[in-house]
Amino acid sequence: MNRFIRTAMMAVVAITIVGCCQTKCDKQSNTEECCNPETASKSEIVIDNMLSRRSIRDYKPEAVDREQMAKVIECGIYAPNAMNAQTWAVRVVDAPDFINGVTDIYKSKNPAAAEDANFKNVFRNAPTVAFIACPTESYSGEYDCGLLSENMMLAAWSMGIGSCCLGSVVPLMNSEEAKPYLERLQLPDGYKLLVAIAFGYPEGEIPVAPERDQSKAFYIE
Ligand SMILES: Cc1cc2nc3c(=O)[nH]c(=O)nc-3n(C[C@H](O)[C@H](O)[C@H](O)COP(=O)(O)O)c2cc1C
Repeated sequence: MNRFIRTAMMAVVAITIVGCCQTKCDKQSNTEECCNPETASKSEIVIDNMLSRRSIRDYKPEAVDREQMAKVIECGIYAPNAMNAQTWAVRVVDAPDFINGVTDIYKSKNPAAAEDANFKNVFRNAPTVAFIACPTESYSGEYDCGLLSENMMLAAWSMGIGSCCLGSVVPLMNSEEAKPYLERLQLPDGYKLLVAIAFGYPEGEIPVAPERDQSKAFYIE
C-alpha cells in the first residue's frame, strides 16, 4: 500500500478514536482512566462504551439527528444474525403526532401517569423511537433482533445518544386502540412487534449501573 495512503488511514483512525474518547469523557464515562485520549487503547474505548451505557429515561426534546440515526441503524444491521437472514424489521419514528397519539392512549388507560410532572410520553420521554419486529415463525428472529438492538444502543451511546429498550409498550401497541399506529409501522405480514427502543439526547444525570450478579457466569473445568 502506498505510504501516503497508509499514513492518511492511520491519521483517520487516530482522529476517530480520540474524538470518540473525548466525547465519552465529556458526556458519559464513569471510568475516567479509560478515557484519556492520549493513552486509551481501542479496546479500552470499546469496553468503556459497553460498561458505561445505561438505560436513559429522560431526554432533551429534540429528535435524534437523522444522519446519526442512520449510522445507528447501520450498526444494527451489521449485527451477527443466523444465516445472514436479517430477519428483523426496523421502523424509526420521530413524528410527534405518533408519539403523542400512542401516549394519549396510554394515558386514557392509566390516568395517574399524567399526574407525574416528569412524564412526557410513554416511550420513557424519548423523542425518537425505533420499533423492532421479527417473524412470528422463526427460530432465530428474537435472537437476531436482540443483537441488532444492542448494536444500535451501543453505537448510539458512543455518539452521546441515550437509549432504553422498552418491552412494556408492546402490549399497548398491540391494543385495539393503537391499531392505527401499529398499521403505520407497515410491518411485513407474519411479523410481530418484539420491542421498542427509546432514543434521544440524555437530560440530567446518567444513572448509576444497577448491580450485576457476577456469579451467573463461570468456567466449567
Ligand atoms: C427486553 C427488555 C425490555 C425492557 N423493557 C423496559 C421497559 O419497558 N421500561 C423500562 O424503563 N426499561 C426497560 N428495559 C431496560 C431495563 O430495565 C434495563 O436494561 C436494566 O434495568 C439494566 O439497566 P441498564 O440498562 O441501565 O444497565 C428493558 C430491557 C430489555 C433488555
